[in-house]
Amino acid sequence: MKKYKIALLRGDGIGPEITEQALRVLDKIAEIYGVQFEYREGLIGGIAIDETGTPLPDETLELCRNSDAILLGAVGGPKWDNLPTDKRPEKGLLKIRKELDLYANLRPAKVWDALVSASPLKEDVVKGTDMLVIRELTSGIYYGEPRGIFEEKRKRYAVNTMKYTEEEIRRIVRKSFEIARKRRKKLTSVDKANVLEVGALWRQVVEEEKKNFPDVELEHLYVDNCAMQLVRRPTTFDVIVTGNIFGDILSDEAGVVVGSLGMLPSASIGDKYALYEPVHGSAPDIAGKGIANPIATILSAAMML
Ligand SMILES: NC(=O)c1ccc[n+]([C@@H]2O[C@H](COP(=O)([O-])OP(=O)(O)OC[C@H]3O[C@@H](n4cnc5c(N)ncnc54)[C@H](O)[C@@H]3O)[C@@H](O)[C@H]2O)c1
Repeated sequence: MKKYKIALLRGDGIGPEITEQALRVLDKIAEIYGVQFEYREGLIGGIAIDETGTPLPDETLELCRNSDAILLGAVGGPKWDNLPTDKRPEKGLLKIRKELDLYANLRPAKVWDALVSASPLKEDVVKGTDMLVIRELTSGIYYGEPRGIFEEKRKRYAVNTMKYTEEEIRRIVRKSFEIARKRRKKLTSVDKANVLEVGALWRQVVEEEKKNFPDVELEHLYVDNCAMQLVRRPTTFDVIVTGNIFGDILSDEAGVVVGSLGMLPSASIGDKYALYEPVHGSAPDIAGKGIANPIATILSAAMML
């Protein structure tokens, strides 16, 4: 019988309860398809701070490196809100993504017919929407150097740097073409090539890679236009690929189009490791009440299979 090792990081707030429900589904799948899932628990987030003093202990990273996949609940909560930024539970998430080089963040946003009224958009605009936003997760302006708040002649100024290497762009673009090929064969690449050099290079690399995927239709959109088109014509999108900061914003927008945060799964994948988690946070306001919607976590587990 094939056996898969799953690193189980339940985290904080509703994390333990929603992952528990995903395990029930996974166990049923194991029974039906004759496979075995071995869950090995690790600490991350606030609970890891309480027990070890750090949001991502080395043992958790080691556990993840020695597993076939990682399933995560959520991290964070008011108890740890006053800690300095680099000591907070969310730092554990940023670190695990970087350490395991999980460079592609996949966020499917699908409108289910039965829940079409949950969307803030009109039914005839949104019905049938089924898209996947792929966000570059480990580079770009969130990581670029130099960065900081500085002072010169008693005047403060702040700097962030948007930087992408050709390789960083190529690997996520290639992955996106491959994924689009397995779906409805349409890829929308989003950039700001009209004003940013990073966008110009992004577009060049996308065009170069397109030659390897003649069967996939390619569309380029500037990010401001894409933000509009997502609410005007959501059903026309299949796979969207973009950099870190634009992806952060557009994937949230795509989530709103669908309507319910409790339904949105995600996968963060690299060439060696992959982590699956719901898009929502630890919902401390409802933790422990048994009312959290586990569907996003169950769908995340489904992406893992
Ligand atoms: N990936 C993560 O682990 C992650 C992501 C976002 C926020 N956070 C952290 O989570 C904590 C709470 O953040 P927040 O309140 O801004 O966002 P949140 O996503 O936790 O909650 C936002 C709202 O949605 C509701 N909600 C979220 N998930 C739900 C579910 N599965 N079922 C039913 N209702 C659900 C919550 O009750 C709340 O009203 C913070 O500490 C934040 O930093 C963690």
